[in-house]
Amino acid sequence: MDNATKNKWDRAALFFDVMAGYGAEKRWEAAKTELFSHMNGKVLFLAVGTGLDIPCFPENKDIYGIDISPKMLEKAENRVQNYVGNMTTEVMDVHDLDMEDNCFDQVFTSCTFCSVPNPVKGLKSLYRVLKPGGELLMFEHTGSRYFPISLMMNVMTPLTRQIGPEMNRKTVDNVQQAGFDDIKVTNVYLDVVKIIRATKRAP
Ligand SMILES: C[S@@+](CC[C@H](N)C(=O)[O-])C[C@H]1O[C@@H](n2cnc3c(N)ncnc32)[C@H](O)[C@@H]1O
Repeated sequence: MDNATKNKWDRAALFFDVMAGYGAEKRWEAAKTELFSHMNGKVLFLAVGTGLDIPCFPENKDIYGIDISPKMLEKAENRVQNYVGNMTTEVMDVHDLDMEDNCFDQVFTSCTFCSVPNPVKGLKSLYRVLKPGGELLMFEHTGSRYFPISLMMNVMTPLTRQIGPEMNRKTVDNVQQAGFDDIKVTNVYLDVVKIIRATKRAP
């Protein structure tokens, strides 16, 4: 377990709902709801956080949620209990998934790979646990290709990473480096907030 990352997000859990629960979460609610409506089969959800995404999940799905932060999952507990369907959660680091190969039909992420310290390693772990032909569906914010947004994000990142996410991640490139195929990107806001869909190629 990466204790530095765990401790950082344990601290962030104290104020996360106030920081993210109103502005950002309300703004992206429709796009997230549409993305999550594609949940099917056995789903791995990384990272649950305080569970702000859960009200956007379709009912009656089979969802296994993980997060590195026990404090985040404690805060999520009510939302997990209120989910109409089968949802369980566990503290787990995506770099070191405690599951057998090829066991999930889909993996969903939401504002996660701005935060995972070694994104390519984390994405390779997700690839390992996905069944061949399985899908990765991500709602992520990334760096931008366009000046001056790119400059702003590069300047902000050393500060934001102290308390939470990085602003300049190249998540689409990372998905490709991790070995995923058939990568499709839809921009939700500029080229910063994106939906990324990719598959683990069936043999
Ligand atoms: C920006 S929050 C997003 C939470 C939630 N998906 C949301 O949108 O409200 C990022 C989350 O990633 C989790 N996280 C960071 N690194 C992780 C890792 N290595 N393994 C699992 N979860 C991790 C943090 O604990 C935190 O809950």
